[in-house]
Amino acid sequence: MNRKAKIIGTGSYLPERVLTNSDLEQMVETSDDWIVSRTGMKERRLAGPQEYASTMGAAASRVAIADAELTPDQIDFIIVATSTPDYTFPSTACLIQDQIGAKSAGAVDIQAACTGYLYALSMAKAWVETGAYRNILVVAPEKLSSITNYKDRTTCILFGDGAAACIVSLQGKGLVIETIRLGADGEQAELLMVPGGGCRQPATADSVANSQHYIKMAGNEVFKHAVRRMESASKECLEAAQVNEKEIAWVIPHQANIRIIDAMAKRFEHLPPERVFKTVHKYGNTSASSVGIALDELLRAEMTKSGEKILLTAFGAGLTWGAAVLHHE
Ligand code: ACO
Repeated sequence: MNRKAKIIGTGSYLPERVLTNSDLEQMVETSDDWIVSRTGMKERRLAGPQEYASTMGAAASRVAIADAELTPDQIDFIIVATSTPDYTFPSTACLIQDQIGAKSAGAVDIQAACTGYLYALSMAKAWVETGAYRNILVVAPEKLSSITNYKDRTTCILFGDGAAACIVSLQGKGLVIETIRLGADGEQAELLMVPGGGCRQPATADSVANSQHYIKMAGNEVFKHAVRRMESASKECLEAAQVNEKEIAWVIPHQANIRIIDAMAKRFEHLPPERVFKTVHKYGNTSASSVGIALDELLRAEMTKSGEKILLTAFGAGLTWGAAVLHHE
């Protein structure tokens, strides 16, 4: 069989509440100027108290399923990529399966931090192309506000909540997933982590008092790795797909920081800023969901047309990274 998996429907969900830079100025010692110049972020969204990874993921999934012109009972597998699951177990994938009524689907969570959408897409592509499953729902929901320390100005300005979803299938028209390249380097695990709450440091009164349940990040180091890894993953992926960078109509990078995105884009010879799609100014870094939310927005705004090629690239804790070349049929 020589048929390639495609994305035949997309969806996203952003909570209503907006957290602006001026709101953050009231919470920590920072300024709108500093945040905009160092990150490109102006605002981000925050989930409400009754919104979770599962409910935001289910909302994005319903849109993606309708966009693919399917019904929930036609989904036969659900892969959820998140760093902020509702619970340690059961999986958020099982909760979403129930909420959307995908009665015949298997369901599993994976963890690849901000690269999660690409890791999940890669698994879905492989399973669909081998015939193991027909219609796979990929969901990347994040409630990062639940692990963000709003007393730490070096991290709290960066993160936001949101969810993305897509349907991967051989049937129907959409974005052909030409090639995906993934990588990891666990030696750098400590650069970006939530140290508490796992089996090494279970939640205790002390671990909570010491803020171990929040994101810890060596910002400068992470910055350098992010630029290099997204560049190399993208170039390897383009080479594997036998696509020249001039042929890429759009690049959708992980929306971690405008300076990371710009620095990465400059490392390409033929990648003008207007072909780099950005949402970082309005949603901040929404981890696994960021590339998926941006892809959904690009498609809904009808900014891409038949015949175009799109490059996705992401980077995150682990460290993990990856890139994908899509071809708009
Ligand atoms: N407001 C004002 N000043 C601040 C703030 C703030 N919010 N945060 C830090 N500063 C200060 C620092 O204390 C420091 O002051 P000092 O010089 O007196 O010590 C100064 O600003 C410079 O700090 P740096 O950390 O060097 O600032 P930098 O330019 O590196 O920007 C940032 C920090 C935005 C975190 C940047 O390093 C970054 O974006 N790193 C990558 C983050 C990232 O992408 N993380 C996630 C990727 S993977 C994932 O999404 C999970």
